[in-house]
Formats: sequence, structure tokens, C-alpha cells
Amino acid sequence: MILVTGGAGYIGSHTVVELLNEGKDVIVIDNFSNSKKQTLDSIKKITNKDFKFYEIDYLDREKLEKVFKENQIDSVINFAGFKAVGESVIKPLDYYINNISGALTLLDVMKKYNVKKFVFSSSATVYGEPEKIPITEDCKIGGTTNPYGTTKLYIEQILKDLYKSDNTWDIVILRYFNPVGSHESGLIGEEPNGIPNNLMPYIVRVASRQLKELSIFGNDYDTKDGTGVRDYIHVVDLAKGHIKALQKLEKDQGLFIYNLGTGNGYSVLDMVKTFEKVTGKKVPYKIAPRREGDIATCYSDPTKAKKELNWEATKTLEDMCKDAWNYIEKNGKK
Ligand code: WQD
Repeated sequence: MILVTGGAGYIGSHTVVELLNEGKDVIVIDNFSNSKKQTLDSIKKITNKDFKFYEIDYLDREKLEKVFKENQIDSVINFAGFKAVGESVIKPLDYYINNISGALTLLDVMKKYNVKKFVFSSSATVYGEPEKIPITEDCKIGGTTNPYGTTKLYIEQILKDLYKSDNTWDIVILRYFNPVGSHESGLIGEEPNGIPNNLMPYIVRVASRQLKELSIFGNDYDTKDGTGVRDYIHVVDLAKGHIKALQKLEKDQGLFIYNLGTGNGYSVLDMVKTFEKVTGKKVPYKIAPRREGDIATCYSDPTKAKKELNWEATKTLEDMCKDAWNYIEKNGKK
């Protein structure tokens, strides 16, 4: 069985859908700190499949052990964790406790029950100010500019030290670029609590008139139109990358690191224009000062994942905009 922590969350839920579609036996744990129970029903509706669920906090060691005692777990995908960059600057302790102590508790329980196949949800943020563009996995990491990114950096280090101490662990670290969009059904999608930090959730709320206008954080970067350039990847492409990562662990031993991105860089204005073209909705915006900690350009070289996982992103920026808007249209408020 595959244990998915944070499986009711944005990327977790899309990955559970793909796991179930592949006929895998899945156990989800989630404490609904940044997700909702209804998502679990949506997953069942999309896949017409069932799965086990425990409403627990992965920091609760006793309850977590119970999951391992009651089930034959073969591998674990760890999505659980807080992920808002801005919030992490305000509440660093919450982020270090939840993301790092949570991962440590999970890994220690896995060790106790001899479960040693682990897929970790990391982030391109670990590259800090990228050494080169496009970014390859051998680029230096570090220099993270916020506690959220630093938790990802530290957990990667923990995994490397763990593997060095005991190479019977099989680990895949997946460095996500910018996940956007939603499942085509419109039943699951991104619902950040409160005012969104990220670009796409903000754009869809402006298009649906829940927010007045988009603030574009700076148009004086050294990019083609002065606005920030990122590697946006459809969340379903990202989810499918996890299936490939599990398949890798079924046949190879070791610790592996992969960028999950499209290899294409799009600017904020590219995103706004594409969204307007695809949806027919206007996205009024104003140019605002740069956001603290932002970098000008960040996009991946996804060659390694293509070669070693036989994985590549296939969905376009248009698909991402269409699916993101479809989710909001189908789910009203948010
Ligand atoms: C994208 C671009 C902004 C909002 C972060 C984390 C990363 C992952 C994704 C969790 C930038 C611009 C944004 C707005 C804007 N998080 N922007 N107005 O900062 O690249 O990455 O979120 O997994 O780990 O580091 O994503 O969507 O916040 O910003 O102009 O209201 O959009 O300046 O150029 P980011 P983002």
C-alpha cells in the first residue's frame, strides 16, 4: 500500500487521483489544516475508487504508528506541510515544527516499521538565486530566502544524511517548479486560505471579481517584458511525475533528485494575456513594487526526469489557465 501524507491537499489530492487510476492501494492521512474533507469525496467521484483515510496530524507519533501497525505500507509520499512563502516569514516556528518535525516523525516511524521507500515533495526554491538558467539538478542549492524554502532545504539534507547512514533506503526528491491548474473535472483544485500569495489563484479571483485587480510585483526585472519569469507546470503533470517516481523506486535502489518542470519560462504578463485569451475574462492589473525575496527568472531543465523517469510535462499554459478557471467557475466563491 502507498501512504500519502497531506493527500487531501492541492498536489496531494491530484496525486491520489493518479495513484488510484493506476490501480494502486492508497492510504491518505491529513489533518485538514490547509485542505478540506470534501476533497476526499471528490477524489472518489473522479476515480470511482475507494481508499483508506485517517484524520490525523503526522506529528502525532502514536496515531501515526497506528496507521503503520494496521496497514502493510510499502512506500510513502510526503506532501504534508505548510507551503505559503509569505506566511512562513511571519510564522517561522510553525513552519519548522510542522514541516521538519513532521518529516522527522514520519521518517522515524517508517524506520521502526522497516518502510524505506520515500518520495519527498521538495521545491525549486531550494536553488535560491539560481546558479544558471535553465536549472539542472546539479546546480548549487542553498541561500533560500524564506523559512518555507529553508524547510525544504533542510529536509533534503536530512534525507541525504539518512541515506548515507543506511543505503537500504530508497528515496526520490522531487523539486517542483510552479504548480498551477486543476483536474479537468473541476472537482478538485487549489484553494489557499485567505488572500492568495501565488499568481494564478490571485488571477482567477480577479477574473471572478472577488478581488479588484492584480498587482504585478515589478516590471523592471531583466526579463523580456520586465516582469518575473517562472516555470509553470500543470498540477496533473506534476502528479503523474509521482507515479513515475514510485515506479523508479520499485526497480532501482538509491537516492534520486529530479526537477519537475516544463523547461519553459513564462512572464507574469504572458500568464495574464494567456488567461484572458483562453477564458475571455479581463484581468485588470497595476504595476506594484517588487516583492521581497522574489527572483527575476526561474525555470527548469527537465531532461533528467525525462531520461531517468520517462516523464515529461505535456500540458500547455493554455491548459493551465483553462483548468484553473474551470475550477473556480464550477466551485463559485473561494
Ligand atoms: C510567481 C510570479 C511574482 C503574485 C512560490 C514558492 C514555490 C511554490 C510556488 C509552494 C512572481 C508574480 C505573484 C501576485 C505577482 N510554492 N506575482 N503578483 O514566488 O515563483 O514561487 O510559490 O510550493 O516554492 O517559492 O510563485 O506564484 O508567488 O509568483 O506579480 O499577486 O508572479 O512576482 O514573478 P513563486 P508566485
